[in-house]
Amino acid sequence: MTKNLDVRRVGGRIGAEVVGVDLTEPSDDVFPEINAALLEHKVLFFRGQQLDDRSQQRFLSRFGPLTTAHPTVHSAEGEANVLEVSGEEGVRSNNWHTDVTFVVSPPKITSLRSLVVPPYGGDTVIANSQTAYRDLPEPLRHLADQLWAVHTNDYDYIQPQFNTDAADEYRKEFTSKTWETAHPVVRVHPETGERGLFIGGFAQRLIGLSGTDSRDILRLLQTYVTRPENTVRWRWAPGDLVVFDNRATQHYAPDDYGDLPRTLHRVTVAGDVPVGVDG
Ligand code: SIN
Repeated sequence: MTKNLDVRRVGGRIGAEVVGVDLTEPSDDVFPEINAALLEHKVLFFRGQQLDDRSQQRFLSRFGPLTTAHPTVHSAEGEANVLEVSGEEGVRSNNWHTDVTFVVSPPKITSLRSLVVPPYGGDTVIANSQTAYRDLPEPLRHLADQLWAVHTNDYDYIQPQFNTDAADEYRKEFTSKTWETAHPVVRVHPETGERGLFIGGFAQRLIGLSGTDSRDILRLLQTYVTRPENTVRWRWAPGDLVVFDNRATQHYAPDDYGDLPRTLHRVTVAGDVPVGVDG
């Protein structure tokens, strides 16, 4: 329950807009309510903020220590913890994922701040991986509870149709060091105890199963995450800040804005080692 915050749900299963808060100076009594709202709604949208790189980092550090911008991709100029997300020259993914799940302790929270937004397209779609888990028929839930997946950055994250020089450079940088990390397919949220599917694009195979069975089962589980009714879609305006809980969500950036410019700055908060249902 929030006392001081104006929190308005956006989607039926995920997402709320927080109205009337200035994130350059969030008061100490409001922050615990923002954190509680994030745990409840999984993604929070803040319109019309006046943040820059420094104040975005300052706000995000209220949730915990920040990570470096990315394990392999260079950071925004002069800001070690800020990743510039720019779809220019074909560096686009069309890919459902949770950020950086290929490392042992993936970031717990991602924030995206809009600098340049296209007049149409370029939305971000966020899915609730906990309601997806609850939607599974009991036998599938039972199966998922027992599975572990190997997450890696060594795959065609940027799809082959993007064959620009910039996309090639990005691919090289993205895989300049590779990881293969096993995580439970069902993750118990460390703060709420809720269970959710912890898969997405970097989960490339299931331990103990053939490549074909892995693909089929991951694809089946993933359909429960990405069903439209399980998602919320955000139409960006300049100055927005979007904050999502990576322990309970996946996201997707549709490549539907042609050659129009789009630039977001991403800051992530360090997370812990994902824990499965058996502890
Ligand atoms: C990301 O995957 O971190 C960026 C999402 C977006 O570009 O909307």
